[in-house]
Amino acid sequence: MAFAPSFLDEIRQRLSLAGVIGRRVKLQKRGHDYIGLCPFHKEKTPSFNVVEDKAFYHCFGCGAHGDVIGFTMRVENLGFREAVEQLARQAGLALPVETPQARAEAARAATLNEVCAAAAESFERQLWSPGGAAALDYLRGRGLSDELIRKFRLGWAPDSRSFIASALGGRFPEALLVEAGLLRQGEQGAFDFFRGRVIFPICDRAGRVIAFGGRTLGDGQPKYLNSPDTPIFHKGRTLYGLHLARAAAGPDTPPIVTEGYMDVIALHGAGFETAVAPLGTALTEEHLAELWRLHPEPVVCFDGDAAGRRAASRTLDRALPHLTTERAVKFVSLPPKHDPDSLIREKGAAAMRDALAGAAAVSDFLWSSATEDKVFPTVEAIAQLEAQLLKRLKAIGDRGLQFHLRRFVSDQTSALYWKHRRRRLPKEGGGRQLSARLGAAENPWRAAAVLLAGVVNHPSIAADDVDRFVMIRSDDPGLARLAEAILGVIASQHDITGAELRQRLEELGFAPTLAAIERSEIWQAARFLHPGADPYDAALGWRALFSRALLPEARRELAAATEEWEREQTPEAWDRVERLRRLVAEQNSEAELVPLQRDPIERWRPQPAA
Ligand code: UTP
Ligand code: MN
Repeated sequence: MAFAPSFLDEIRQRLSLAGVIGRRVKLQKRGHDYIGLCPFHKEKTPSFNVVEDKAFYHCFGCGAHGDVIGFTMRVENLGFREAVEQLARQAGLALPVETPQARAEAARAATLNEVCAAAAESFERQLWSPGGAAALDYLRGRGLSDELIRKFRLGWAPDSRSFIASALGGRFPEALLVEAGLLRQGEQGAFDFFRGRVIFPICDRAGRVIAFGGRTLGDGQPKYLNSPDTPIFHKGRTLYGLHLARAAAGPDTPPIVTEGYMDVIALHGAGFETAVAPLGTALTEEHLAELWRLHPEPVVCFDGDAAGRRAASRTLDRALPHLTTERAVKFVSLPPKHDPDSLIREKGAAAMRDALAGAAAVSDFLWSSATEDKVFPTVEAIAQLEAQLLKRLKAIGDRGLQFHLRRFVSDQTSALYWKHRRRRLPKEGGGRQLSARLGAAENPWRAAAVLLAGVVNHPSIAADDVDRFVMIRSDDPGLARLAEAILGVIASQHDITGAELRQRLEELGFAPTLAAIERSEIWQAARFLHPGADPYDAALGWRALFSRALLPEARRELAAATEEWEREQTPEAWDRVERLRRLVAEQNSEAELVPLQRDPIERWRPQPAA
């Protein structure tokens, strides 16, 4: 019997020719193609070419030529039918067998498609009828335009046990509605599966409706119901929105994989028409294969919560065996508490665009997902981290890629190791001496006074580093007012010079405050902040002083912000925690690293009178 041409095409499309041939022949990449030693005749220099784009191979030595099926027949010594069967298995395709039973199944699949199409129409009609008003309000209330609601053919399943059977008006036998997942068999007969839910029709990649998702309007559980798997619907292979993404995907518009229906729709609303989502399951290898057919680097954009990050990390593990130097995945991390839908609604399409632009490559995502929110306080912890990451990387099939990623992980862990060592060093050697030296600077009044006067002479220090500047605190009201005035002036003129800033402050009445500071002994000693000092020394010294004087304060603020985050869980609280954590981490290393390099504070020690 002959296979349908569409079935053979499906096999050719699903399998990478170079992948199949690569198992038998050692291939090397050359341009878009591959070359290797021909398996069909003896040769010492490669003349066997694989043209992946066109899906054929050709040997310039012996003239052998063909597609993936011909190759398998020749190399495995199989007949056409056996070769097709073997390849279909590899491609995960069921064989179309032309028995009467198979013909009946094909006919039923066609009928199931009709059932789904008809049901989708009924649900959609309901949504726009008076009975669907609450659902329509709900969707509009979530920011969907009518155009968008129609584009996705959203519908409404009334809260009834017999809506769908009566809507389809006896056009289909009950058994078929059960098989399509629209009715559920109960003890007292079949009843509607979707009741009182907004309906999201799910399409195959050709755009035919094959299943449905349904969401409650309120807080009912479960929030979403999806059709069960049916002969035409397989969750592990289907992506919501794929038929639309296929049309919109291009070199600059990779598919964007989200977690949910609403994310896909919101992304479309914001102009990102390549959004897709799996259906409440993890992303499978089949999903990935589907995405790679559209673009070499699809973007995973899951929710910003811990579950979303874990799901992204699992997706990475699933992708690793299939990654090559040309086939990758990128990962977007959204702010905590946001999914694409909420981000777009609250912060707009531009925020989404920024998030997408910041997508991390495999290497960076691998590293950040394994290290963020964690500390590695000992050499042993660092070693464990490295071992775990290297073990994960073993899954990568592509040798070259694996090599480079392993090297990346080793570099990163050794940087971590050195950071750890340096952090120990100052403590091991003379930590007490260091703090004795700094005793003077750690007096809060004096530290704040010197930091402020330093900025008056070198305004760029504050202009470049407002985060730090605003943390300068003083109980002395005069200094607090001075700090506020400096900030006000700098905010309106970033590139102000020291002389100009001083003049403005004097106009504002701060001459006596400045004079008092500049009379102090500690300021006299802080030569690296005086007018005319080297700007690099000034900035470095200012930061070192800041770190030592204000580190305890920053730590306290971080603790308070962390508590607030735990209590309130607002994005603003999270932002604050993130900012402070970065600041504290930087200060930790600055306070301790600077003495090892060049220490302006050392030089600033009062000189013995001549
Ligand atoms: P989410 O809980 O993230 O939902 O589930 P969401 O998309 O943000 O939903 P809204 O914004 O509250 O409407 C993500 C996906 O997981 C599946 C659905 O496919 C959903 O889109 N899911 C979720 C279920 O299958 N069942 C559920 O009860 C919840
Ligand atoms: Mn959501």
